[in-house]
Formats: sequence, C-alpha cells, structure tokens
Amino acid sequence: MRLVILPNSDDVAEFACDLFVQQLKQKPQSNLGLATGSSPTALYNKLIERQAAGEVSFSAATSFNLDEYVGLDGDHNQSYRYFMNETLFDHIDIDLKRTFVPNGIAENPNDECKRYEEMIALAGGIDLQLLGIGINGHIGFNEPLSSLASRTRVKTLTKSTIEANSRFFGPDETQPTDSMTMGIGTILNAKQVVLLATGEHKAQAIKGCVEGPVTASCPASALQMHEHAIVVADEAAAKDLTMKDYAIWAERRHQALEKM
Ligand code: F6R
Repeated sequence: MRLVILPNSDDVAEFACDLFVQQLKQKPQSNLGLATGSSPTALYNKLIERQAAGEVSFSAATSFNLDEYVGLDGDHNQSYRYFMNETLFDHIDIDLKRTFVPNGIAENPNDECKRYEEMIALAGGIDLQLLGIGINGHIGFNEPLSSLASRTRVKTLTKSTIEANSRFFGPDETQPTDSMTMGIGTILNAKQVVLLATGEHKAQAIKGCVEGPVTASCPASALQMHEHAIVVADEAAAKDLTMKDYAIWAERRHQALEKM
C-alpha cells in the first residue's frame, strides 16, 4: 500500500486530480470508479477546472459509481445519481449515457445489483477506483462485517452511517436505511484504487485501514491486499498513525526513485 500524507485537504485533492488526469491521458477510454460524499468534492472541482482548461477530456471515459440509496430515484436531491450530475457530470464533457450509478428504484434491488456487477465486468473492469472512508472504516457502503469477498449487493446501513448522513436530509424527509453498493471484492478487482481521507474525524478509520489487521471489522483494511492501492490523507487524518514518519520518508524516496 502506498501511503501519501499531505499538509492539507487541498493538497489531497490536487494529488488525486493529477492521478485522474494521468489515467485519462494514458487511456482516454478508462473506466473510472467514482464516489460521492464530501471527500471527492474538491477533487471534482479541480477536474472540472482542468477539463475547462483543455488539460483533460472525459469524452471517451465511462464511469461507475460505488453506491446508491435503495428507494431514491435519480431526481431525488439526496440520491447519488443527482449528486454526481450536479457535482461533476453536468460540468464535464463525459457522455451521460456512459455514467452508471445503481438504479435506486429498481423493481428488484437484488437483480439490479447483479446487473451492475455484470456491467462492470462486461466493460472490462475498473481502471481507477476512487474511495472515501466512513468513520467506521466503511468503503462504498460496505459496513463493518461485510465479507471481504463481497460483490455488488444490497447492504443495510449502520446507525452510525445513517446518523453521519442525516445532515443531508430535511426533517420531513425519510432517510433510506439500505443501499446498493459495489462489494469489497468488486473494489479489490479495480486495477488501481485511491482512497482520500481528510480531517481528524477520519484518523481512527485511517489507522484501522493502514495499520490495523485485515479484518471485516474495518472494511477499508482490505485495501492492504490490493497491489496498487494508494491512501492519500491530510495531516489531520494521518495523526494517529504510528508509522507516519516512515510513510512521509518512504513517499519522498518513492518520488525520487520515480524520477531516476
Ligand atoms: C460514497 C461512499 C462512502 C463515503 C464515506 C465517506 O459514495 O461510498 O463510502 O465515501 O461515507 O463520506 P464523506 O466523504 O462524506 O466523509
């Protein structure tokens, strides 16, 4: 696992932005795995700017989002489809027909999950998968105790996730309790994975992800089994890491060696 610790959240977004730009330059028809929430927002703003500046194009790319709430249709302002359109897709040159998010109002959510998993495989798999991390260590909506081999499926959210996301729902709105999410096995199949974490409230989750045992109690720890996983954290999110100094030193060496 490559661990990159940067001074602040803007640096984290810039680092991730460079990765996506490089990926699209190397392979314009990349399959991108995308996430919602607060972690990727600054990255998406930077990608919009880079595309407007003509430095990158999404016109040949395809995207697959990690997850969606069961019961919300794409027009609902808390659905992840809505979030993606508003935050990224409506502002870049991607073909909306090649952006995929599980259908939250599918008649049969289990069949929808199978279909989604098959679509990813048919597309040739994900080239670069973006992740945030929940305070309980979840990735996508793979809550603690999710099978590390899981595929896209319906997953009931934990109380802590429902509480963490309640800030987005009005007092009269019913907040979903279930999601459709790529599984941990699905995520591990991506050719490269990048997880972003900023803020002190993510420090314990990052410690579990990077230094803890590989365990279903911290789904993000499964990334330790991925050959090309990069965890990018700001100082605040990295503050509890025992190996923090080594990680900073090793990353400096990594960058120096890459230039040789
Ligand atoms: C979002 C997702 C979640 C979030 C995680 C962190 O598509 O899959 O795993 O990445 O809950 O959320 P934020 O970034 O809002 O702290």
